[in-house]
Amino acid sequence: LATVEIDVSALEPGMSLTAKWRGKPIFIRNRTEKELEEARAVQLSELKDPIARNENLAPDAEATDLDRSAGEGKENWIVMVGSCTHLGCVPLGQAGDFNGWFCPCHGSHYDTAGRIRKGPAPTNLLVPTFEFISDTTIRIG
Ligand code: FES
Repeated sequence: LATVEIDVSALEPGMSLTAKWRGKPIFIRNRTEKELEEARAVQLSELKDPIARNENLAPDAEATDLDRSAGEGKENWIVMVGSCTHLGCVPLGQAGDFNGWFCPCHGSHYDTAGRIRKGPAPTNLLVPTFEFISDTTIRIG
Protein backbone atom coordinates (compact mmCIF):
# COMPACT_ATOMS: atom_id res chain seq x y z
CA LEU A 1 0.00 0.00 0.00
CA ALA A 2 1.24 3.49 -0.80
CA THR A 3 -0.21 4.89 2.41
CA VAL A 4 -1.48 3.40 5.64
CA GLU A 5 -3.64 4.94 8.33
CA ILE A 6 -2.87 4.03 11.92
CA ASP A 7 -5.16 4.57 14.91
CA VAL A 8 -3.01 5.73 17.82
CA SER A 9 -5.84 6.51 20.24
CA ALA A 10 -4.81 3.68 22.58
CA LEU A 11 -1.26 4.94 23.04
CA GLU A 12 -0.87 6.67 26.39
CA PRO A 13 2.45 8.43 27.09
CA GLY A 14 5.16 5.78 27.31
CA MET A 15 3.40 3.41 24.91
CA SER A 16 4.45 2.43 21.40
CA LEU A 17 3.23 0.37 18.53
CA THR A 18 4.85 -1.02 15.43
CA ALA A 19 2.92 -0.61 12.20
CA LYS A 20 3.85 -1.94 8.82
CA TRP A 21 4.35 0.20 5.71
CA ARG A 22 5.84 -0.93 2.43
CA GLY A 23 7.07 -4.07 4.13
CA LYS A 24 8.97 -2.15 6.78
CA PRO A 25 8.26 -1.79 10.48
CA ILE A 26 7.25 1.72 11.52
CA PHE A 27 7.77 2.65 15.14
CA ILE A 28 5.22 5.04 16.60
CA ARG A 29 5.80 6.19 20.16
CA ASN A 30 3.94 8.56 22.44
CA ARG A 31 6.92 9.78 24.43
CA THR A 32 6.86 10.64 28.11
CA GLU A 33 7.78 14.06 29.46
CA LYS A 34 11.02 12.56 30.79
CA GLU A 35 11.94 11.18 27.35
CA LEU A 36 11.28 14.58 25.81
CA GLU A 37 13.41 16.33 28.41
CA GLU A 38 16.28 13.92 27.83
CA ALA A 39 16.13 14.44 24.07
CA ARG A 40 15.85 18.23 24.34
CA ALA A 41 18.85 18.45 26.66
CA VAL A 42 21.17 17.12 23.94
CA GLN A 43 23.21 19.69 22.01
CA LEU A 44 23.54 19.27 18.26
CA SER A 45 27.32 19.24 18.71
CA GLU A 46 27.00 16.00 20.71
CA LEU A 47 25.30 14.19 17.84
CA LYS A 48 27.06 11.84 15.48
CA ASP A 49 24.46 12.75 12.85
CA PRO A 50 23.22 16.35 13.24
CA ILE A 51 20.71 16.06 10.36
CA ALA A 52 17.02 15.48 11.15
CA ARG A 53 16.55 12.72 8.51
CA ASN A 54 12.91 13.73 8.48
CA GLU A 55 11.24 13.33 5.10
CA ASN A 56 8.66 15.93 6.07
CA LEU A 57 11.31 18.64 6.33
CA ALA A 58 14.09 20.10 4.22
CA PRO A 59 16.98 17.68 3.64
CA ASP A 60 19.31 19.88 5.70
CA ALA A 61 16.99 20.35 8.70
CA GLU A 62 18.85 19.85 11.94
CA ALA A 63 18.27 16.96 14.31
CA THR A 64 16.67 18.97 17.11
CA ASP A 65 14.13 17.07 19.12
CA LEU A 66 11.34 19.16 17.59
CA ASP A 67 12.43 18.36 14.05
CA ARG A 68 12.67 14.66 14.84
CA SER A 69 9.15 14.67 16.30
CA ALA A 70 5.72 15.14 14.77
CA GLY A 71 6.23 18.90 15.22
CA GLU A 72 4.76 21.81 17.13
CA GLY A 73 2.01 20.71 19.51
CA LYS A 74 2.73 17.03 18.79
CA GLU A 75 6.30 16.91 20.07
CA ASN A 76 5.52 13.87 22.18
CA TRP A 77 4.95 11.77 19.04
CA ILE A 78 7.76 10.19 17.14
CA VAL A 79 7.34 8.14 13.96
CA MET A 80 10.32 6.32 12.46
CA VAL A 81 11.22 3.53 10.10
CA GLY A 82 12.27 0.69 12.40
CA SER A 83 15.31 -0.25 10.42
CA CYS A 84 18.80 0.27 11.84
CA THR A 85 20.78 2.56 9.56
CA HIS A 86 23.79 0.27 9.84
CA LEU A 87 22.66 -2.91 8.12
CA GLY A 88 18.92 -2.87 8.59
CA CYS A 89 18.17 -4.95 11.68
CA VAL A 90 15.11 -4.01 13.70
CA PRO A 91 16.12 -2.10 16.86
CA LEU A 92 14.53 -2.81 20.23
CA GLY A 93 12.56 -0.08 21.98
CA GLN A 94 13.32 1.43 25.39
CA ALA A 95 16.72 -0.11 25.36
CA GLY A 96 20.37 0.83 25.09
CA ASP A 97 22.53 3.40 26.85
CA PHE A 98 20.22 6.28 25.94
CA ASN A 99 16.95 4.59 26.84
CA GLY A 100 15.71 4.98 23.28
CA TRP A 101 16.29 2.14 20.83
CA PHE A 102 19.06 -0.41 20.69
CA CYS A 103 20.10 -2.53 17.74
CA PRO A 104 21.39 -5.86 19.02
CA CYS A 105 22.99 -6.88 15.71
CA HIS A 106 26.16 -4.82 16.15
CA GLY A 107 25.34 -2.58 19.11
CA SER A 108 23.95 0.73 17.87
CA HIS A 109 22.38 2.93 20.54
CA TYR A 110 19.73 5.51 19.59
CA ASP A 111 18.31 8.13 21.95
CA THR A 112 14.68 8.92 22.75
CA ALA A 113 14.49 10.96 19.55
CA GLY A 114 15.84 8.05 17.48
CA ARG A 115 19.19 9.75 16.92
CA ILE A 116 22.30 7.60 16.68
CA ARG A 117 24.50 8.16 19.71
CA LYS A 118 26.87 5.20 19.87
CA GLY A 119 27.79 2.22 17.72
CA PRO A 120 28.32 1.64 14.00
CA ALA A 121 25.08 3.06 12.56
CA PRO A 122 25.95 6.17 10.51
CA THR A 123 22.68 8.09 10.64
CA ASN A 124 19.57 8.71 12.70
CA LEU A 125 16.55 6.46 12.25
CA LEU A 126 14.57 7.75 9.27
CA VAL A 127 11.37 9.70 9.86
CA PRO A 128 9.06 8.76 6.97
CA THR A 129 6.51 11.02 5.30
CA PHE A 130 3.52 11.12 7.62
CA GLU A 131 0.84 13.38 9.04
CA PHE A 132 -1.87 13.40 11.67
CA ILE A 133 -5.13 13.38 9.74
CA SER A 134 -7.10 13.60 13.01
CA ASP A 135 -6.07 13.83 16.66
CA THR A 136 -5.75 10.08 16.83
CA THR A 137 -4.95 8.92 13.31
CA ILE A 138 -1.61 9.04 11.55
CA ARG A 139 -1.28 8.55 7.83
CA ILE A 140 2.08 7.23 6.72
CA GLY A 141 3.29 7.69 3.18
FE1 FES B 1 22.09 -2.37 13.62
FE2 FES B 1 24.39 -3.31 12.64
S1 FES B 1 22.39 -3.55 11.83
S2 FES B 1 24.05 -2.20 14.46
